[in-house]
Amino acid sequence: MVRPSKLRAPKSGSGVIASPNIWHWPEVYEEENRAQDPRGAVYAALREAADWIGRHVVDVGCGSGFHLPMFAAEARTVTGIEPHPPLVAAARTRVKGLPSVTVTEGSAADMPLPDASVDLVHARTAYFFGPGCGAGILEAMRVLRPGGALAVVDLDATAHPYGDWMRDDLPHYDPAAVEAFFEAQGFDLRRIDTLWEFPDRATLERVLGIEFAPRVATGAIRETPGTTLTVRYRLHVRRRPIGGLELS
Ligand SMILES: C[S@@+](CC[C@H](N)C(=O)[O-])C[C@H]1O[C@@H](n2cnc3c(N)ncnc32)[C@H](O)[C@@H]1O
Repeated sequence: MVRPSKLRAPKSGSGVIASPNIWHWPEVYEEENRAQDPRGAVYAALREAADWIGRHVVDVGCGSGFHLPMFAAEARTVTGIEPHPPLVAAARTRVKGLPSVTVTEGSAADMPLPDASVDLVHARTAYFFGPGCGAGILEAMRVLRPGGALAVVDLDATAHPYGDWMRDDLPHYDPAAVEAFFEAQGFDLRRIDTLWEFPDRATLERVLGIEFAPRVATGAIRETPGTTLTVRYRLHVRRRPIGGLELS
C-alpha cells in the first residue's frame, strides 16, 4: 500500500486536522470501523455517561458516518458534522432513508447549529480534540443545552500493545500532556478495554497498514498472532453546567 507523501492541506485557520487513514483509504477505514469493538463496550460506556434516547445528538468529525445509524436508532434527531467534502457525501449516502439524520459540512470550531439546541456532542477517534482545541470545546458548550454533554472518545496511547505502536509512530505525541489538558478543562476520564475483531489476517494487515508508517505497521503485524487486538479507549466527558456562572 502506498502512503501519499503529501496530504491535501485543510483550510487554514479551520482547526481541521488531516486524517490520512479515512481521507485516503475510506474503504479500509470502513473495515477498521467494523472491526473496532464489535461487542459495543465504548457505546455502553457512552450510554452510561450520557444517554441519547429521544435526544438530539451531534457526531462531530463523523467521517463517512459509520456511527450515525447507531445513534439514529434511538435519538430524536442526529446531526453529522464533517469538514472533508468527500466524506460528507459518503455520510449522506449512508444515511439516505434515515429521516432523523442530517449531515452538514463544518468543523468542531464551527458547528452550523443554534445555541443550546443539542443534548450530546460526540466526537470519536477525535484527535482534533486535545491541547489547542479550546475553540472546539467552547463551540460545543455553545450548542449544548445546559446539562448536555460533550463526549470525546479516543485511543489510549498508554496501553499495550496498540498504544506502544502509536507512541513509536508519533514520538512527539505525549499522552500524559493530552490527559492533563482534558483534566484541566474539566473533563472526567474513563478507560475502556475493547477487542478489535477482524474477519481474517488480510483485513487486520490492511488496517494496521493505514494506521502506522510501514516500519511500525510491519512490526505490529509481526507481533500480532491471529485476528484480534486488544485496544484501550479514553472517554472524556464534560457537561455544560445547569444554571449559575459558567467558566469556560
Ligand atoms: C479518524 S477519523 C474518525 C471518523 C469518525 N468519527 C469515525 O469514527 O468513523 C477523524 C475525522 O475527523 C475529521 N476532522 C479533522 N479535523 C476536524 C475538526 N477540526 N473538526 C471536526 N472534524 C475534524 C476528519 O476529516 C475525519 O473524518
